Amino acid sequence: MAAARLMIIAVMLMSTIFISSADPDLLQDVCVADLASGIKLNGFPCKANISAADFFFAGLAKPGLTNNTFGATVTPASVQQVAGLNTLGVSMARIDYAPGGINPPHTHPRATEIVFVLEGELDVGFITTDNKLFSKTIKKGEVFTFPRGLIHFQLNNGKVPAAVIAGFNSQLPGTQRVANALFASSPTVDDVVLTKAFQVGTKEVEKIKAKFAPK
Ligand SMILES: *[C@@H]1O[C@H](CO)[C@@H](O)[C@H](O)[C@H]1NC(C)=O
Ligand SMILES: *[C@@H]1O[C@H](CO)[C@@H](O)[C@H](O)[C@H]1NC(C)=O
Repeated sequence: MAAARLMIIAVMLMSTIFISSADPDLLQDVCVADLASGIKLNGFPCKANISAADFFFAGLAKPGLTNNTFGATVTPASVQQVAGLNTLGVSMARIDYAPGGINPPHTHPRATEIVFVLEGELDVGFITTDNKLFSKTIKKGEVFTFPRGLIHFQLNNGKVPAAVIAGFNSQLPGTQRVANALFASSPTVDDVVLTKAFQVGTKEVEKIKAKFAPK
């Protein structure tokens, strides 16, 4: 009886671990991504000749340019920039925001994100699958978490630039911006899908599509 109960608890624990895991576990110390390889697998094949440089990236040291439509820029430090992250299940990014800048609503299908505010102040939030908004204003030195797969955003409502460092439990979190996915896909989503989904007319849909069209 006791053994059976223990067994059930063990199975429940194992399934919890399975559900909460992100990238798969590693099978060797290192597997530096051979990004140029044509071989497709879950992750990247390992390259043979590796060095400390494969685990290094200076790209987050300086603010990214924010003179764009959204007034914000994401500088990733994922496996595509740091090949040594392959199979290790973590990555980072730096996000810079001009005053008024926004990192518009998006999801990371493969990672939970935690941000640490380097400078400034941000209004941040995520929305659960039952459409509850969890939002907060965060400032320098504070952290906030965006659970894996949930739509989230950050807005710099302040008068000075802001910046965060983000950590992810995936070597390649993936980013899908809601507006871009629906209004700027290639080929485009039919207007009728969007007029029905958003309960608006074709004119409104076309107007948004035009904003996202490549200039
Ligand atoms: C390994 O890479 C280094 C530089 O990254 C290069 O100097 C060296 O020749 C390479 N060795 C081999 C065997 O390819
Ligand atoms: C943003 O600023 C940089 C440097 O000041 C400049 O090279 C670039 O063309 C600007 N981009 C836009 C979209 O204005």
